[in-house]
Amino acid sequence: AQTLKGAANANGRYMGTITDPAYINGSDRTYNTIALQEFDYITAENSMKWDAIEPSNNGFSFNNADTVVNWAQQNGFKVRGHTLVWHSQLPSWVANGSWSKSSLTAVIQNHVAKVMGRYKGKIAQWDVVNEIFDENGGARDSVFSRVFGGLDEFVTVAFNAARAADPDAILCINDYNLDYNGGKANGMISLVRRLKANGVPIDCIGSQAHLVVGSVSSSFGSTLSSLCSTAGKCALTELDIRARTPISSSAAQQQKTDYTTAVRACAVLNNCLGVTVWGITDSRSWIPGVFSGEGDALPWNSSYQKKPAYDGILAGW
Ligand code: XIL
Repeated sequence: AQTLKGAANANGRYMGTITDPAYINGSDRTYNTIALQEFDYITAENSMKWDAIEPSNNGFSFNNADTVVNWAQQNGFKVRGHTLVWHSQLPSWVANGSWSKSSLTAVIQNHVAKVMGRYKGKIAQWDVVNEIFDENGGARDSVFSRVFGGLDEFVTVAFNAARAADPDAILCINDYNLDYNGGKANGMISLVRRLKANGVPIDCIGSQAHLVVGSVSSSFGSTLSSLCSTAGKCALTELDIRARTPISSSAAQQQKTDYTTAVRACAVLNNCLGVTVWGITDSRSWIPGVFSGEGDALPWNSSYQKKPAYDGILAGW
């Protein structure tokens, strides 16, 4: 039978999803079975985030990330490392520390060197920085943008440290609401252009693509194309397409169309690496916990039945 990864691979791309030790070793074996059958690229849903992996200053906790990387290696998956520098799921020792530029620089450099160094050669792509923009394309407020007085300096520190830690990894800058020609996409494009002109080793822009059924912009594809040509490479890194729950049959058909639109936007670009969906089954998606009354955003429903969205992805490739 056709699989999502088969369709992506036929187009020279990958098809990714998320996992974590609770899916790899937990009682829900169906999640793991579908991951193995349908996907060839994996992101740890939470295990590589700063609070999980460096909960105290220079105190690292690699067990869960190791589980994901070992599982990936044993099963022929490539890995997207997610994520090194992010304002969220950031331990309070970083978020609430009283830093100078130089002390925070040292903390970022140590974090990047130790985490990327441990998995050198085993993680193909890294989200070096995540969600650094506000909706207008300026600096999102965070300990990083406050201490450094904007984005350019800490992004430069992070990417230089990342290139040094694993010269073969593809280094990405990742964000959401890059799904249309707007302030955030334009802020991303101008930052990446400026930093690359200064020699900062940014290889790729990741567009999370947390979309809404029936609201995919007519500029989704052209915006992804601009992001991709600015950075040299791009990927859809967290695709899901949410609906009011429970999803109606007409919304499920629209969701199929929207999945095709999103995947095709990547498929038609030579330098779009692949597509990652942020989960497999609606029952384990992050959406209902964050967007009240919304969900049913993934290709498999809560009983692991394939939704029309599944065929929408196949059609996109
Ligand atoms: C989400 C996870 O899916 C949840 O389990 C967790 O509680 C919060 O984070 N953008 C990102 C991802 O970059 O890391 C987020 O993942 C979803 C939004």
